[in-house]
Amino acid sequence: DLDAELGRAAGLVREVPDFPEPGVLFRDIGPVLADRDAFRVVVDALGRSHTFDVVVGIEARGFLLGAAVAHAYGTGFVGLRKPGKLPAVADRVDYALEYGTAALELPAESLIAGQRALVVDDVLATGGTLAASRKLVERAGAEAVGASLVLELSPLDGRQAVSDWNVRTLFTT
Ligand code: PRP
Repeated sequence: DLDAELGRAAGLVREVPDFPEPGVLFRDIGPVLADRDAFRVVVDALGRSHTFDVVVGIEARGFLLGAAVAHAYGTGFVGLRKPGKLPAVADRVDYALEYGTAALELPAESLIAGQRALVVDDVLATGGTLAASRKLVERAGAEAVGASLVLELSPLDGRQAVSDWNVRTLFTT
């Protein structure tokens, strides 16, 4: 059944010690994407119980998942990019990281006012990326109906950054 299939997919997340720096335990969803059955069940679950007409995916792994969700559910896809990648930028949000800052950009002629957007990404850590994504969606006049992610790193409590939003995560660690 679905829970068993998702449980099997959760077991494929690889833990890599000391990446990208010493002391950090990195969660790699690569093996989930590489496995035919796990990829399918995860993509289906990410789109389930949300009502949306466009998927917004976050660079880089949110592109892989989000484009698959969009295709599976018959919607378009908009990718939010890191700075310096887009030929035409509609909007940009800068946000704080634990050390330093980051930014995401919305491409020109992408989201349409009134569209119901589902944000998709791989991992919820501090929640900064998700909060920035929501801001870009709403400033474009679209409706940010919620977010779906594969893995929630609960010790980082990213949910407090997006506590008033419908954020679903498939696996929690
Ligand atoms: C990771 C992850 C999320 C973000 C979550 O991306 O894919 O997008 O961090 O972190 P937060 O909740 O603390 O904001 P990363 O910056 O590693 O980019 P990449 O996918 O391009 O490697």
